[in-house]
Amino acid sequence: MQHSITINQAKNLQGIINVPGDKSITHRALIFAALAAGKSIIKGISRCEDCFSTIDCLKNLGIKIKVGGKTLVIYGKGLTSFKKPKKPLDCGNSGTTMRLLSGILAAQNFSSILTGDRYLKKRPMKRIMDPLHNMGAEINADKGNYPPLRIKGKKLQGIHYHSPIASAQIKSCLFLSGLQAEGTTTITEPFRSRDHSERMLKYLGVPLKIKGTTISISKAKFEGKEFSIPGDISSAAFFIAAAVISSGSKIKILDVGLNPTRTGFLDILKKMGASIKIEKRREICGEPVANIEINGKGKLKAIKIGGKIIPRIIDEIPLLAVLGCFARGKTIIRDAGELRVKETDRIHAIVSQLKKMGASIEERKDGMEIFGMGKLKGASVKSFGDHRIAMALVIAGLAASGKTKVNNTDCINTSFPEFKNLLKGVVRNE
Ligand code: S3P
Repeated sequence: MQHSITINQAKNLQGIINVPGDKSITHRALIFAALAAGKSIIKGISRCEDCFSTIDCLKNLGIKIKVGGKTLVIYGKGLTSFKKPKKPLDCGNSGTTMRLLSGILAAQNFSSILTGDRYLKKRPMKRIMDPLHNMGAEINADKGNYPPLRIKGKKLQGIHYHSPIASAQIKSCLFLSGLQAEGTTTITEPFRSRDHSERMLKYLGVPLKIKGTTISISKAKFEGKEFSIPGDISSAAFFIAAAVISSGSKIKILDVGLNPTRTGFLDILKKMGASIKIEKRREICGEPVANIEINGKGKLKAIKIGGKIIPRIIDEIPLLAVLGCFARGKTIIRDAGELRVKETDRIHAIVSQLKKMGASIEERKDGMEIFGMGKLKGASVKSFGDHRIAMALVIAGLAASGKTKVNNTDCINTSFPEFKNLLKGVVRNE
């Protein structure tokens, strides 16, 4: 049976919290540690379902992994140590797991199948199949290039791929195939996408050539290391948004990853007039980390969002739609067509549900327009099985008058199982 979350309008949020480890960085630490020679220790992992999909797939590929709470020990055996899996590898809901592992499996000396849940089976894979085919890979998918992916490992050859999409998943897939290919593999993206893979490869001592949005990688061997994962800015964003729209809120979030390729949400909030303080900036394993303090003033200005900032806010756009409802003026979000091929069509999902809450919001092909009215009203809404839609609607419910019921909220475990309890701890009703 699916669960739901019922929320009453909150007065504000108060408290000091830590959000769990970054999901994107946890995936990468797991995968790179599996490819490294020797033992790696990963501290502060995200214990979300997506990261456990990666852990389970790696285990089925013969990698020994011991998980103890938020610390994990992984025994890598080098680039060619994977074993043919006995069954199809189940990536669950995780696009990152499927697209990154494809880059590894395309070069192994065995065949394998990558599959996933009903949502992942509707997500486009041509974006990684095209460049991998160009490198000599043999990958078959279902009609329309949807998973399952049937991969027959081949000897790969480096290429220069000009990606039509700014996507860290495509880029990282090619780094992983490039690490095993003959010659140099180069990718050029239209805009810079999140660069956690580049930072981690550098941390592991793998040479990369980076010139603007063009990055080259060649065959390399590396050893296991200790990793610490910063807090997930995309999870922190829900608390930041809730605090920003309710005046009198005061929230501090500790040890959050502030990689500039992920912080577009903070830049936009500042432009909208929010009060955000960044303290104790430092670096952990090549990733910038800091504490974030938000003082909610409840007054926001509408802005226009589009162009190269989109990859830097891609996972926060449903939340920006909620904030747009509380901003004075017309918020316009453009160039965000990628949202239509995420865990669900996030443009349709958030627009249709915020409409139920009384928002004046319209879908556009590659985004949306929101006429901020400074309020929402409680309603019964649904998540479309998408974690970020579910959590964005809970935040909308906290600021809406009356009672909001968000249906089908089990999907929140995909990225943030601790969400409900953490929120309960900081929401003030009196
Ligand atoms: C991710 C990259 C982004 C993001 C996803 C995680 C990653 O996708 O939306 O949640 O870990 O590489 P794209 O790179 O496909 O835009």
